[in-house]
Amino acid sequence: MTNFIKKAANDFIRPVLTSLQAYQPSEDTGKIRMDANENPFPWPEGMQEEVFNSTLEFNRYPDGSAKALRQGIATYNNVDWTEVLVGNGSDELIQLILSTFAGPGSSLIVHPPTFSMYWAAATITGTSVEEVPLLGGISLDTEGIIKSSQQAARSVMIICNPNNPTGNAFARSEILQIVRESPGLVVVDEAYYEFSGETLADVINEYPNLLILRTFSKAFGLAALRVGYVLANKTLIADLNKVRQPYNVNSFSQQAAAIALKYLPAYLQQVAILKKEIQKISEELGQLPGVTVYPTAANFVLFRPADCRTWAEEFAAKGFNTRYFTNLPVLKEAIRVSSALPEQNQEFLRIATKLAGV
Ligand SMILES: Cc1ncc(COP(=O)(O)O)c(C=O)c1O
Repeated sequence: MTNFIKKAANDFIRPVLTSLQAYQPSEDTGKIRMDANENPFPWPEGMQEEVFNSTLEFNRYPDGSAKALRQGIATYNNVDWTEVLVGNGSDELIQLILSTFAGPGSSLIVHPPTFSMYWAAATITGTSVEEVPLLGGISLDTEGIIKSSQQAARSVMIICNPNNPTGNAFARSEILQIVRESPGLVVVDEAYYEFSGETLADVINEYPNLLILRTFSKAFGLAALRVGYVLANKTLIADLNKVRQPYNVNSFSQQAAAIALKYLPAYLQQVAILKKEIQKISEELGQLPGVTVYPTAANFVLFRPADCRTWAEEFAAKGFNTRYFTNLPVLKEAIRVSSALPEQNQEFLRIATKLAGV
């Protein structure tokens, strides 16, 4: 028998993962949820019945190629279905992209402050992270980000447009310049596309290094069902397909997302209301003394009152979940809120006005 040294349970995790923290999802505390950038409206009329009346054989594996859903997404985005790949939320796809195209010896280039899951996916896949902060916390450092890609042996860059958590959108021309001049892959995370109306989906075949990331969790109100997708040229999609788990999106979610696309006009009405609401929230917060409000093209807005902590605690005490950032890169403390239902937003603004002492 060989001698062995008995290990403790925490000796087994891969060393690169020891400092990784598990994602802390916000709890459903029964409060009004303005913290997760979801769509607060119920599904469009008739959709729930259609989704639940569909005949699915749950004893069978899902369609591993998700063909019907990919065809629906292709029509929605005016691309071919072979240029679409679906995932269990775009979170899964971020990791899939890095597993396929990055990993040890490669860099993930990001522009903090931006979406925190990018760092987690990099750690898990053994990809090192290159940070090129947004100038003033808002503008892309175009030269810096291109240089970073040119200096990396291999790289994947993620541009979040509109950016979470700041909310602002970047100019199409700037992103295209980055795509053209970067030797590495460029992922444009368009999770909030339906709100911003800005996309590069029309040029996926002009650039071999461009991928677009989308989700059904925001405008389409399917956050619980976990459906995201990638749009890219056929070669990149085929490469991702080699690494993807065969049945990564379950039958029910595939069906619900495909049905949701049929309700697009009704969703766009919801989007129009939410855009107006967030504009109203931004304007009214901006008029309060001592409050800085960042520009937004999404369904949420980032702002900073003089005393962020007190405001976040007060909102919670009054029944509103907001997202309080204690130390954002560049911007430091701030609060992010997504639009709730109009009457709830009204109440939220009443509380904010009181907190500002007006
Ligand atoms: C920019 C961005 N990308 C991706 C995601 C993840 O979305 P999903 O629910 O599809 O995993 C989010 C969710 O907040 C996000 O803000």
